[in-house]
Amino acid sequence: MPNTISVTRDGAIATVQLNRPEVLNALNAQLLTELGDALRELDEDATCRCIVLTGNDKAFAAGADIKESFVGVTPVSMLQQDLTAKWEVIRRIRTPIIAAVSGFALGGGCELAMTCDIIVASETAKFGQPEINLGIIPGAGGTQRLTRAVGKWVANEIILTGRFISAQEAKDIGLVVHVYPAASWLDDAKSLARAIAEKAPVAARLATEAVDIAWNSPLDAGLEFERKAFYLLFATEDKNEGVDAFVHKRKPTFRGK
Ligand code: CAA
Repeated sequence: MPNTISVTRDGAIATVQLNRPEVLNALNAQLLTELGDALRELDEDATCRCIVLTGNDKAFAAGADIKESFVGVTPVSMLQQDLTAKWEVIRRIRTPIIAAVSGFALGGGCELAMTCDIIVASETAKFGQPEINLGIIPGAGGTQRLTRAVGKWVANEIILTGRFISAQEAKDIGLVVHVYPAASWLDDAKSLARAIAEKAPVAARLATEAVDIAWNSPLDAGLEFERKAFYLLFATEDKNEGVDAFVHKRKPTFRGK
């Protein structure tokens, strides 16, 4: 049983909660391992159609565990520990993941949210990449994903100052999709997850994969992937179900086949 995270199921959605509240959910090696294992298990479960990744009211995650991961380490010990491999597991999950952020999402916490497919936030959320205050830079994708998300000049200002940005500012710059009230943020995130879970699961997975490819490759390669994925979906029962439901003016029931 993992003890740095907890997983709860509610029908087709799963909620994965980071659970090291005493250190504001700082990401240590054990948490990253348990998180990767749990997400991989959910990803292999066809009945799980959307995942909410969250923390608690005070913190989504306050970054890498500074005391555990950054004290007395050397480049060689970091290379041997290879935390990057643990982040790669999370990146490869195909089930849509919503990061539901309340409180601090700093450093690796902000990077973890950016690894997800959608970010929503409580009005209390504070995002940031404060690594500069430790004399380092973001090391789990922050310089790359934040820049792709908000552009070079905004990303540089956030990374070079290490300042915290509010949920509303994060929405204004395109990092966050919805800002929810502090009283209902997690329920609101789960409602969004339920709406996504009702959609055709194979199409949902290919859609997020295609959107990810838009980040990673030139337009021609992305369009090529999209075209092949689009054609592939014409082999699914869910495509027949969706089109038939439209034609006969009824609600579709997608089965992930
Ligand atoms: N690592 C380890 N412990 C942490 C932590 C972290 N990232 N963030 C908070 N904690 C611990 C604190 O040490 C404290 O523990 P003690 O009670 O034992 O002292 C506890 O969590 C509560 O924190 P604070 O008392 O500091 O709470 P606060 O409300 O006064 O401040 C905060 C909150 C502004 C988030 C502050 O804790 C803070 O600045 N944390 C560090 C944020 C940071 O620099 N994150 C980036 C890490 S580097 C990184 O993530 C690299 C990467 O790219 C992967």
